[in-house]
Amino acid sequence: MADYKYIQVETKDQLGLVMLNRPKVLNALNRQMVSEIVQALESFEQNDRIRVMVVYGNGRAFAAGADIDEMAVDNPVSLELLNQFTEWDRLSLLKKPVICAVHGFALGGGFELALACDLLFAAEDTKFGFPEVNLAVMPGAGGTQRLTKLIGKTLALEWLWSGEMREAGEASRLGIVNKLFPKEVLIEETIKYAQMLSKKPPLSLRLIKESVSKAVDYSLYEGMQFERKNFYLLFASEDQKEGMNAFIEKRKANFKGR
Ligand code: CAA
Repeated sequence: MADYKYIQVETKDQLGLVMLNRPKVLNALNRQMVSEIVQALESFEQNDRIRVMVVYGNGRAFAAGADIDEMAVDNPVSLELLNQFTEWDRLSLLKKPVICAVHGFALGGGFELALACDLLFAAEDTKFGFPEVNLAVMPGAGGTQRLTKLIGKTLALEWLWSGEMREAGEASRLGIVNKLFPKEVLIEETIKYAQMLSKKPPLSLRLIKESVSKAVDYSLYEGMQFERKNFYLLFASEDQKEGMNAFIEKRKANFKGR
């Protein structure tokens, strides 16, 4: 496995786990770290043995945002030339399920990373927010877009303008968090859920993810046409035969991902 500086990577059965690992600075995301996260997820994406990926943080927080020390000296030209946000765009290209498990703080770029994943599980102690406004900047890695698509314009504006931190319970009520857990069992429960997902037919998970993503951008009619083609496509898989035969023969299905 590649040698990373700011993250730790491991596999567990059919899961690929990525742990953010700069605990002294609350996992502040410097550019190399973002690059490592994306690389690690892409290599799990290419690994046939891996079916579900999990991202979480070491220490007292998931991530307290982009690394302010690194960013403080930037100017528009250096940012344009660095073009760092294209790394974040690559997260949207991942086809396998990605679950993010957050605790402590999920702020700024850390919140954006969480929102870029497919499912968000949170410890009850998590504080969510976009404090960028207090630094006289704004979210730059999808925060204004993803938050607004999830909770609507007026709620998103209020939250982004104020820069305030909100408790996990409120984030859950707003529909941002899938599951809340006591901090002590967050990772254990997330892995349990990921294990359950890893037993599902991978091609179905993949095409469901692709179709659900289209629902955000497509009209209902276009989205339904897209969904239908994916539905038809699954009938070309061995797993479809296995799933339906297992039901008919009253046995447990064993899915191969093809
Ligand atoms: N960048 C760099 N260092 C950070 C950091 C960040 N985003 N967040 C925390 N740290 C560092 C602190 O400087 C501190 O380092 P030292 O021990 O060397 O002083 C260490 O992490 C621990 O932090 P605190 O002592 O501040 O811990 P706290 O419990 O008192 O406060 C906190 C926690 C409220 C999260 C506070 O650290 C904080 O406000 N952090 C900054 C949050 C922020 O503004 N994030 C947005 C960044 S901009 C962005 O993300 C842009 C984008 O969209 C891409």
